[in-house]
Amino acid sequence: GVQAIILAGGSGTRLWPLSRTLLPKQLLAINGEKTLLQNTLARTLSVFPARGTWVVTNEEHVFEVRGQLRRVDPGLEANILAEPMGKNTLPAVLLALDRILGENSPEAQSGVVVGVFPSDHMVGDVAAWKSCVERGESLARDGYLVTFGARADTPETGYGYIRRGAALGDGAYVVDGFTEKPDLEMARSMVADGAHLWNTGMFLFRADVFLAAVEKHAPMHFAWWRARREKPLILGYGGIPELSVDYGLLERMKRLAVIEAGFDWDDLGNWAAVYRLGAKDQNGCVVQGDVLALDCHDSLLVSRGGKLAVTGISDMIVVQTRDATLACPMSRQQGVKDVVAALAAEG
Ligand code: GDD
Ligand code: MG
Repeated sequence: GVQAIILAGGSGTRLWPLSRTLLPKQLLAINGEKTLLQNTLARTLSVFPARGTWVVTNEEHVFEVRGQLRRVDPGLEANILAEPMGKNTLPAVLLALDRILGENSPEAQSGVVVGVFPSDHMVGDVAAWKSCVERGESLARDGYLVTFGARADTPETGYGYIRRGAALGDGAYVVDGFTEKPDLEMARSMVADGAHLWNTGMFLFRADVFLAAVEKHAPMHFAWWRARREKPLILGYGGIPELSVDYGLLERMKRLAVIEAGFDWDDLGNWAAVYRLGAKDQNGCVVQGDVLALDCHDSLLVSRGGKLAVTGISDMIVVQTRDATLACPMSRQQGVKDVVAALAAEG
């Protein structure tokens, strides 16, 4: 059968003060009633069975994750896998694969197709997402590791870039190269050449194909995983290095395919993205919560605690929570990471 792994271990701070170490982005309702994790689960369950849907998260978030899962499908509660610490995405996927292979008969094990999905992104058109995933399933059965690419229109340095090669039909292509988090100059040239797509961070594979790639390109992680399968109580999580699937496998693997995303996608990586995607009022403002806005224009105004009153501002971000407030010009939203760093240094 098919199985899904939802990665919910990130500790994003770019949406401070709403996202915090103890309440990262995936656990927040950023653009609606449901949290990003709940939207991801609802979407995933339109393709994958609940029994075969696994959520990997940090130990300290299990309680909150369980509560959120219960409201989507009570059957999911048993499918939470807790990591004692974040080791990035490759170990998280291996941890879940351990469970997935354990639940399948030995004959079914290698042929099982697995989808991996970040928990903290926005997907616009779920029906289109579903048909892309179904297209991906058939390529994964053919032995490709399948990625999903979104149109790259700005030189974002926080993304992976996928170079499109020969067409495989139905919006799919062979991948000619993968570059994770390029520098600005390189990102500019990849956007300009029109042959690159942004990696959305979702991928699909056949379990045996993925494990063979780990064995070849991340042998230390493979040895750890295999030893751990045999002696789960002896080998802990602390001893392996952090590694992302992007750096560890995608930059090195040969048999990669990409499906052009036929849906709107955004990783909601900053407040400007929340503003861009939000519903605007007649003054171009995105307003959430208990906010009084007089003569405000083109601003993001959010309160999650207490009354926020603003007057006469334009192109601003103001986010208020019970114990902290952020205010900055829209054009300076990258500065949030400096704010977070400065606060951490303050202690
Ligand atoms: N369980 C678990 N454990 N999940 C994790 C961990 C971990 O240690 N680290 C990250 N994740 C989850 C995050 O919650 C997120 O949903 C997903 O894995 C991706 O991790 P990020 O840390 O957000 O990666 P990134 O944004 O730097 O880069 C990735 O995503 C980009 C698109 O948003 C890469 O795949 C890029 O190539 C891609 O363009
Ligand atoms: Mg991310």
